[in-house]
Amino acid sequence: MSKDKFTVTAALPYANGPLHLGHVAGVYLPADIFVRFLRMNQHDVAFICGSDEHGAAITLRAKKEGVSPQEIVDKYNAIISKSFRDFNISFDIFHRTSSDIHHKTSQDFFLKLHEKGKFTEETSEQYFDEDFQQFLADRYITGTCPKCHNPNAYGDQCEKCGTDLSPTELINPKSTLSGKTPVLKTTSHWYLPMALHENWLREWIKEGKLDGVQQHDSKMWRNQVIGQCMSWIDGGLHSRAMTRDLDWGVKVPLPNADGKVLYVWLDAPIGYISATKQWALDQGKNWEDYWKGDRKLIHFIGKDNIVFHTVIFPILLKDHGDLILPDNVPAYEFLNLEGDKFSTSRNWAVWLHEYIEAYPEKEDELKYVLTSIAPESKDSEFTWKEYQTRVNSELADILGNFVNRALVLTQKYYEGFVPAKGEMTAEDQRLLEDMREIPERMSKLIYAYKLRDAQAEAMNLARLGNKYLADQEPWKLVKTDPKRVETIMNIALQITANLSIVLQPFLPKTAGKIGGFLNFEAGNWSAAGKDDQLSAGHLINAPEILFQKIEDDLVDFEVNKLKQTNEMETSYEPQKEAIQFDDFTKLDIRLCTILEAEKVEKADKLLKLLVDTGIDKRTIVSGISEHYKPEDIVGKTVQVLLNLEPRKIRGIESQGMILMAEDAGGNLSFMIPEKGFDAGGGVR
Ligand code: 2FM
Ligand code: ZN
Repeated sequence: MSKDKFTVTAALPYANGPLHLGHVAGVYLPADIFVRFLRMNQHDVAFICGSDEHGAAITLRAKKEGVSPQEIVDKYNAIISKSFRDFNISFDIFHRTSSDIHHKTSQDFFLKLHEKGKFTEETSEQYFDEDFQQFLADRYITGTCPKCHNPNAYGDQCEKCGTDLSPTELINPKSTLSGKTPVLKTTSHWYLPMALHENWLREWIKEGKLDGVQQHDSKMWRNQVIGQCMSWIDGGLHSRAMTRDLDWGVKVPLPNADGKVLYVWLDAPIGYISATKQWALDQGKNWEDYWKGDRKLIHFIGKDNIVFHTVIFPILLKDHGDLILPDNVPAYEFLNLEGDKFSTSRNWAVWLHEYIEAYPEKEDELKYVLTSIAPESKDSEFTWKEYQTRVNSELADILGNFVNRALVLTQKYYEGFVPAKGEMTAEDQRLLEDMREIPERMSKLIYAYKLRDAQAEAMNLARLGNKYLADQEPWKLVKTDPKRVETIMNIALQITANLSIVLQPFLPKTAGKIGGFLNFEAGNWSAAGKDDQLSAGHLINAPEILFQKIEDDLVDFEVNKLKQTNEMETSYEPQKEAIQFDDFTKLDIRLCTILEAEKVEKADKLLKLLVDTGIDKRTIVSGISEHYKPEDIVGKTVQVLLNLEPRKIRGIESQGMILMAEDAGGNLSFMIPEKGFDAGGGVR
């Protein structure tokens, strides 16, 4: 039987930050599981990825860190590619879009489409920063969101209400470069007239047909993927600019295109092709075999990239001619973290490289949990508590326990030699039948991109084994019916061997360990489910514990770490409007010593203070009683705004205001001079 050939890609991560668990659960881990499964089934497969090293996201990050864009991409490419290696994501190549081969490939791609007349050149007005003499990418413009009035919305999106925006929709736009209001200026770009493509796209997405010829099975596409592209197409496809005014990226290879680069759509996905070219060169293969002819192209992506991979990239591939279009685009919804969205800017994230560094021995624990909760059809959530529960009560109590029992009893009863199977009961037969069916069911699920269910099936095999031993109780029978125990243990060991096969795509380390305990080289997927994996007399090794239980300490530590960084990063207000020095000098702030302090009756928060200002003694009412006890503050010298218009609070005239420092958690503290100054000194 001839096997389907596959080119599998995983969305190129931007080299502007490390990877967090949301990226892993919704793109890289499922892609890796799928590819490992394909390899076990001897499909010809190329698994392609790399870092996306262009775009405003990178230049902004560079500005923020005060270094060049090249330094940013070098730094994050190194972090990202190391974490993929450490986490055993088995790409055939992890390449970079800053490479020469990529620049050349995307430029050639652009030129080919340009020569074929596939683009239109259009002029439009775009925001321009006059101080910096440059056009502003959408991300370089901030302003007030027209929908929710968030004052910090970006030119392409409001992160508060999630609305997609264009820069001209922002109220009071500001350039992030100069901080000034940008001006509109005419610029010209190459556009992809997408409206021309509506008809064939509809047929291709809904029915899987291209020019009447069946290409893929649309029933295998996820509902939300079809839903999202159809609603896009139904909304009417407009021309989209394929180039941008930016000095970082792949240069537009035409005369008079100075300062223009290819936009992400003609850059990142072409990265799949250029990475394949590099890999083919390294391996002595022909890249065209992976992008032309009879082959399935599969894109693993997050839902924010659906339209990109089901509409825009397919148009480009078709316009180019003779390249294959995707067979499926298994897109993932989003993973949330402890009740909130992952956020790089707020540091609300579990970073892959930090996890690996903290728990180098717990790779499969994380893989297992992430696949169990993978956001295949709707958003899902990672919590450390669930991580603990799944590791302890599933991996340790079911899988680990079963494998350990089977192996320990074999050592104990037979000194590690696999006993022979004798006569079988109806129950044994049923179990073996189940064991045969599980890999078949898994196979169907994996080809349909239902990896969560497929992994659950693998765990069911461990569950069956666990239950079988518990029901049969060989440890009791061994005294009365040792012959029967030989059969039971033989069956338990066959299950164990099968686990080392079916777990391979999901938990490659664990599968390898089980194989090692059994002294058994797990074969291809086609061997899975058989009941004669280990022959009688085969000698196995002593087992070790597969999974350590996760203690509460770990959960507490991780949750606290998250909450702390989040507090530190989040709750501070942005800077207020600029004032003149004169405005500042109007404030009369002085050091005052607290002479008396008492609670204000029936006002929980208020203290009435008598302070020595150096020029007089006066009364001040201050809302600090939740933070300071009256008896603890007498004698302290604090900062007071003296010339605040007096006002009555609870019938007491307050003649000034104590200045307090406040942290993100709302804790208040006096600001006491470091040197012991007396009352009357000024503050400036
Ligand atoms: O959205 C992103 O993360 C971009 N780096 C593009 C990823 S998809 C691609 F590689 F085509
Ligand atoms: Zn908004």
